[in-house]
Amino acid sequence: MLRVCVIGMGAIGNKHAKAYVDSKNAELAGVCDIRRDRAEAAGERFSVPYFLDAEEMLRELKPDICSITTGGKEYSSDHYLPTMQALNAGCHVLGEKPISDNLRHAAEMVETAKKLGLCYGIDMNHRFTPAARQAKKWQDDGRIGELLFCNMALWIGKFMPLDSPYYHLKALNPHSVNIMQYFMGPVDLVSCFAMKATGRDIWSTASINMKFECGAVGHLTSSYDIRRGHPMERCEVAGINGRMIFEDMWREATLYPSETYLKEVYTNPVFDGYKGFDDTFRNRIWTFVDQVERGDKPEDIDGSGLEGLEAQRVIHAAIRSLDNGGIPVKVSEVFD
Ligand SMILES: NC(=O)c1ccc[n+]([C@@H]2O[C@H](COP(=O)([O-])OP(=O)(O)OC[C@H]3O[C@@H](n4cnc5c(N)ncnc54)[C@H](O)[C@@H]3O)[C@@H](O)[C@H]2O)c1
Repeated sequence: MLRVCVIGMGAIGNKHAKAYVDSKNAELAGVCDIRRDRAEAAGERFSVPYFLDAEEMLRELKPDICSITTGGKEYSSDHYLPTMQALNAGCHVLGEKPISDNLRHAAEMVETAKKLGLCYGIDMNHRFTPAARQAKKWQDDGRIGELLFCNMALWIGKFMPLDSPYYHLKALNPHSVNIMQYFMGPVDLVSCFAMKATGRDIWSTASINMKFECGAVGHLTSSYDIRRGHPMERCEVAGINGRMIFEDMWREATLYPSETYLKEVYTNPVFDGYKGFDDTFRNRIWTFVDQVERGDKPEDIDGSGLEGLEAQRVIHAAIRSLDNGGIPVKVSEVFD
């Protein structure tokens, strides 16, 4: 049984803690928040000791795994400190997305985990669903073939004041870019245009073109401006052998094979299927626990820190392009 702690007890930290409590292979040992009200409430909710200081908790409880569910500027600047503390205490770490607002911090966290031989994952929960796995299986079985294009779209309504003009690009798109890279591989070139919708002071809707290293092309539309999404996410991947659409994370995946007019559809079952967004957290977190329990190599972690870093590098390249009138930017040349 793996012993787990969670650092950062906002809404998302509570989702992680609940997933560990419900896991067969993990036991929640403690929770921590620098805010006493949140630490105490989570400690009471899960009947575990609570701490206001992460290092103290790591020293006392010596967990095997630590979830880092802090936030901060651009929903991510606070991840660096507790991630480094947890890694240096010898924990495998599952961090929230975005990996960091700062690419140099992100690279240092990835490098530290590698140097210490520890597993480091990022909560790319949107693709930890049976529908996404089915889509990947079609691809692995050769049903897509040589890749041609990927069209991705992700939108939610987020209207509160935000702390940076790039918040939407950096905080929402780790999911969408990671999904694109999952099917298409690394991104070579990026070009971005964006708008500030009426009444907004951030780049709230964006259009990003990509060229992948494999030669295929891609496009991402993302927005914080749509009040009611339904669905909120859509990924289309096309190759010479077929085209597939993976709809709204867990709801449906459809394959349109090139050789027939018969399509194949995976539909989320009414019973035993995904009932809501929280199931994506559970599936992602349990996958990490299973990989650590099995002793998988750090480089084999599905949704790794390195994937989180690569997704963020594409987003930083898009921001550089946006700031320069949409010129193409080479991702491999972006380090901060
Ligand atoms: N995967 C997803 O689908 C998804 C969805 C929403 C948010 N998120 C991510 O989850 C993270 C948390 O989101 P939230 O809404 O719960 O944020 P939040 O700001 O409400 O909570 C973060 C908590 O971390 C605490 N904290 C900060 N630094 C700390 C430290 N060094 N030690 C202990 N506690 C510390 C803060 O006091 C705060 O209570 C963000 O990175 C966000 O991007 C992920």
